Amino acid sequence: MCGIVGVLGQHEVGPILVEALKRLEYRGYDSAGIATVNGGRLDRRRAIGKLANLSDLLVHEPLAGKAGIGHTRWATHGAPTVANAHPHRAGKVAVVHNGIIENFRELRQELEAVGLIPETETDTETIVLLTRHYMDQGQDPRTAAASTLGRLKGAFALCFLFEGEDDLMIAARRGSPLAIGHGDGEMYVGSDAIALAPLTDRITYLEEGDRAEVTRAGVVIFDAAGRLANRAETRIEREATRVEKAGYKHFMAKEIAEQPVVIADALRHYLAQGGTALSLPEEIDFTGVDRISLVACGTAYYACSVAKYWFEQIAGLPVDVDIASEFRYREPPLSPTSWALFVSQSGETADTLAALRHAHEQVAKVVSVVNVATSSIARESDVALPSLAGVEVGVASTKAFTCQLTVLAVLALKAGVDRGRLDPGALARHLSSLASLPGLMNHALGLESEIATIAGQLSEAQDVLFLGRGPMFPLALEGALKLKEISYIHAEGYASGELKHGPIALIDSHVPVIVMAPRDGLFDKTVSNMQEVMARHGQVLLISDAGGIAEGGTGVWNSLTLPTADPFVAPILFALPAQMLAYHTAIAKGTDVDQPRNLAKSVTVE
Ligand code: F6R
Repeated sequence: MCGIVGVLGQHEVGPILVEALKRLEYRGYDSAGIATVNGGRLDRRRAIGKLANLSDLLVHEPLAGKAGIGHTRWATHGAPTVANAHPHRAGKVAVVHNGIIENFRELRQELEAVGLIPETETDTETIVLLTRHYMDQGQDPRTAAASTLGRLKGAFALCFLFEGEDDLMIAARRGSPLAIGHGDGEMYVGSDAIALAPLTDRITYLEEGDRAEVTRAGVVIFDAAGRLANRAETRIEREATRVEKAGYKHFMAKEIAEQPVVIADALRHYLAQGGTALSLPEEIDFTGVDRISLVACGTAYYACSVAKYWFEQIAGLPVDVDIASEFRYREPPLSPTSWALFVSQSGETADTLAALRHAHEQVAKVVSVVNVATSSIARESDVALPSLAGVEVGVASTKAFTCQLTVLAVLALKAGVDRGRLDPGALARHLSSLASLPGLMNHALGLESEIATIAGQLSEAQDVLFLGRGPMFPLALEGALKLKEISYIHAEGYASGELKHGPIALIDSHVPVIVMAPRDGLFDKTVSNMQEVMARHGQVLLISDAGGIAEGGTGVWNSLTLPTADPFVAPILFALPAQMLAYHTAIAKGTDVDQPRNLAKSVTVE
């Protein structure tokens, strides 16, 4: 959460900083700001709300300078006000920060005792006050920044800029990611390579505890112990960092539509011999593995919850599924012959990363399924499997979810083979159903106009329930999450069989109930639960295949007919109507689809 950027350039940096912040806005949009040094003079501009407000401000109050830092905020400490917006400044130092300074209260007291009184509610302000304090005591900017960093507890990525220093930025990383970009007589700092992609494809990723002194001549990096560190420069693929709507109205619409293509890419990567054999790194061998823990947050957690059914049913492998924020503090005992598997789009989710670190010493192998291949979770795993969704910008995860599911499905098949539970015939059948996915998804995308019509009615609802059974239960949870996060309609997902144990009390003629039920072995049971809803005047939208609609569709409020899919891949296919329903309901309500209120794409604070 929060995006930071820094540029030591050859040209005016104001517009460059704003452009880079645009690419980081997915990390938060409560406020934005930039600071520059111009002829030695440090100055800043800040505005609340979206980046467009900062751009407007800069039209009236431009900020000159060829060195600058910028920030887009997701508020943690202090409301989204101009005073709380970054860059923060005290005396000759300005800073942009992503993360949380956990000991800021103690530091504030200490600073107040020496007459440095905070003017904001933020934790970040203590960083600039502390640096100012060290500079007042005679330390030069580099030393003062190092002294400050030594005092901070918590998670942060930081970039400092100093009055009187047109050619210096100090960057530091602990807990939150930070990339240094190399240009031609220019240097850059960014929360990720995507922010820097139009400027450079030459990136050095800082490691945990690193401090970097950046000048136009290059970067000098010190590790956590203060020793000079040699960090590799890598080339990023510019294509992999493209963030364009490509004619779509929203990133989310584009990302929903891309799913047949990215799923086909993922299948090409993880299958060999024209899709008839598995192709995973050789370390992925489930022989002797007695249990796996699947850990993630949000949508990625629901992907894990679907995968539990696959691992247990296909491979007979016991699975625990955990929400990362619970797992990390519950400190569950883990078997040394078990694996822990972490799933994350960003690869930077603070809770998932902390859970991974907890598991590392205890299990035989730490595996991750991660969309951002250079992320912290990927780098700290024994084996990192890319989910290959491409850049996902929309805050509501769509294509990353179905790609996660696809990789997890392939892993479950591998576990089935390694554990002797899946004979060649059964493997071939499962592989062929995976291969059918892109085509099935294309058909599902064809339901768009029908879905838009239903969504128009759904947008009138106050509450919506989603029901599913078996692997469709996590899909019901995901459908409800998608709807609430972008349309702000209250929605809940329930296991169909659980309804009469309480939630059925919510049903009346005003509550749409979305039933996700392919015509599989559990269909009749789900239809019985659906009848119980209809008997209480609940308005059922049945999402099924032609067989299911023919058998169970009588008397429902509405239905959506998906193409018939093998039950193994049905959860991946059923994600699409759930995503499209949420998208079109949000459109009908006029909410901000790509940047819904209170949310950020990358949750780097706990
Ligand atoms: C919901 C959504 C979130 C994320 C969650 C984990 O649409 O996107 O629930 O799934 O914050 O994020 P990652 O996958 O980056 O670890």
